Amino acid sequence: MRELFTALDLKDSNSGAWSGDGGWSNDTSGPVIESVNPTTGELLARVHSATAADYERILVSSRRVFDQWKIVPAPKRGEAVRLVADELRKHKDALGSLVTLEVGKIKPEGDGEVQEMIDIGDFAVGQSRMLYGQTMHSERPLHRMYEQWHPLGVVGIISAFNFPVAVWSWNSFLAAICGDVSIWKPSLKAPLCAIAVQKLVNRVLERHGFPAIFQLLIGGNELAEKLVDDRRADLISFTGSTPVGRKVGERVAARLGKSLLELGGNNGIIVDEFANLDLAVPSIVFGAVGTAGQRCTSTRRVFVHESRSKELEQRLLRAYSQVRIGDPLKPETLMGPLIDEASVQRYLQAVEKAQRAGGTVLCGGKARPPGNFVEPTIIRARHDWEIVQTETFAPILYLIEYRSLDDAIAMHNSSHHGLSSAIFTDNLRHAERFLSAMGSDCGIANVNIGTSGAEIGGAFGGEKDTGGGRESGSDSWKAYMRRQTNTINWSRELPLAQGIDFKV
Ligand code: UN1
Repeated sequence: MRELFTALDLKDSNSGAWSGDGGWSNDTSGPVIESVNPTTGELLARVHSATAADYERILVSSRRVFDQWKIVPAPKRGEAVRLVADELRKHKDALGSLVTLEVGKIKPEGDGEVQEMIDIGDFAVGQSRMLYGQTMHSERPLHRMYEQWHPLGVVGIISAFNFPVAVWSWNSFLAAICGDVSIWKPSLKAPLCAIAVQKLVNRVLERHGFPAIFQLLIGGNELAEKLVDDRRADLISFTGSTPVGRKVGERVAARLGKSLLELGGNNGIIVDEFANLDLAVPSIVFGAVGTAGQRCTSTRRVFVHESRSKELEQRLLRAYSQVRIGDPLKPETLMGPLIDEASVQRYLQAVEKAQRAGGTVLCGGKARPPGNFVEPTIIRARHDWEIVQTETFAPILYLIEYRSLDDAIAMHNSSHHGLSSAIFTDNLRHAERFLSAMGSDCGIANVNIGTSGAEIGGAFGGEKDTGGGRESGSDSWKAYMRRQTNTINWSRELPLAQGIDFKV
C-alpha cells in the first residue's frame, strides 16, 4: 500500500479541495472523511472535507477559468485531454489497484475502469474536431441559417462509489473539449481515487501550461446541495440512486439549470427457446456477479422461456458454485466485497423479502463475514413482487419463467427503471422484435451480449426512473454545450418569416 500511495502521490492525510486559485486547500476545519478498505475494514487515509470557504474559491475560480477556456480552440482543448489520457496510460496499473483497494472491485475491473477513462479520452480528443452544427435552408431569399454549439459553462459532476473514476472522465473529458470547466464532487466512499486522479491531472495541466479546467470538491450532502442549487453551475451531472437523483433533478429544475441524470437500473435479460446458453450463461454471471452486483448495469432479472428453464438454472448453479469470493487484489478472485456494512444489510433484507414473497433461494443468500462479503445469489421469483421491482445494489439474480415472448417483454418493461437490457436468441425475428418499438423500453438494448460492460462509443443512459440522461459516446457531448441558431440576412431587403407584412 505504501508503494501505491507513493506512486499516486497520496498521503495518510489529504485535502479534499482543489481549485485553480490557491491549489490544494490547507483549511482543515471541515469534517474528516475516512477512506476505508471494504475488504478488510482497515483505514486507508483521512481526507479533509472542503469548507464553505473552499467551496466559494472553487466556484469563483471555475467561472474565471471558464472565461479563458471557452475561447481556446476546441482541438487545442482536445490536446489537454490527450495529454491527461496519456498520463492515465502510464498509471493504469497503480490507479486500477487503488480503485480495487478503495471500492473492492476485482483488479481486472479496476484496471478496466481506468481503461474506460483512457478510451473516453481518445474519444473526446477526436470529438474536439467534430462539434458539428447543422445548416438549414431559410424560407427567405438571400438568407442563411445555421446552428453552432458554444461552451456551456461550469459543470458539476457528482459521481458514485461504484465507478469512482470512469464516470468522472466520461463527463469531464467531454466537458473539457466542449470548453467547460468541471467541478468534481466524488463519492465520500472513494475520496482517494478522486485525489489520485486530480493529482495526476494537475501535473499534466501544469506541465503544459493549461488552466485549471478540472477542479475538485470533496464533501458531504451540504456541499453537494449547495452545488446543486448554485446558478454558477450550468449543468449538474449526477450518477447515483433514483431517490437522490429525483431530488437533484427537481432542485436543478427549480432554478432552470440543466441536469444530466444517470440513476438506477433493474436490468433484465430474456433467454428465449432459441438461446445459445454458451453465450447466455457467462454473460449472466458477469452481469450479476461482476462488481458484486454493484453496477447500475448489473443484471438483476432473467426471464427464461419455460422450455429452457431447468437447463439454464442448472448451468447457472454450476457456474455460481465456481465463483471465488475474496480479496479483490488476488488474481483468482472473481467477486470482492460489497462497499459497506449497510449494503450487506440491504442484501440480507432483500433475500428475506424475496423468500417471504414465496421465492426459492437456489444458491447463496448469506453474508460471509468478516468484511462485507456476501454470497452471489439466485432466487426463483415472480416479476411483480415488490422486491423484484426494486434495485438492490448486490449480487442477487431473480430467475423468472415465461411462456411467450410478448409476456417476457411485458414483464421486462414493467420495471420503473429503463437502463440496460438484453435478449439471448438465435432467432432473427425475436431479436428484431426486442430491438423494435414493440420491444425493450431501455436506453441500452443488446442481442447476445449482457447488460453490463457497455462500450464508451455509444450513448450511455436510460429512460424512466433511470433519469433520461445520456453520457459518454455518440452525440452525448451536446449536453455540455449550448446551442445557438443563427440567421444571417445578406440581402438588401427585410422580409419577415411566415410571410408577415409589417411595413410602416
Ligand atoms: C455504472 O454502473 O454507473 O456498462 C456505470 C457498464 C460500465 C459502466 C457502468 N461501462 O457496466
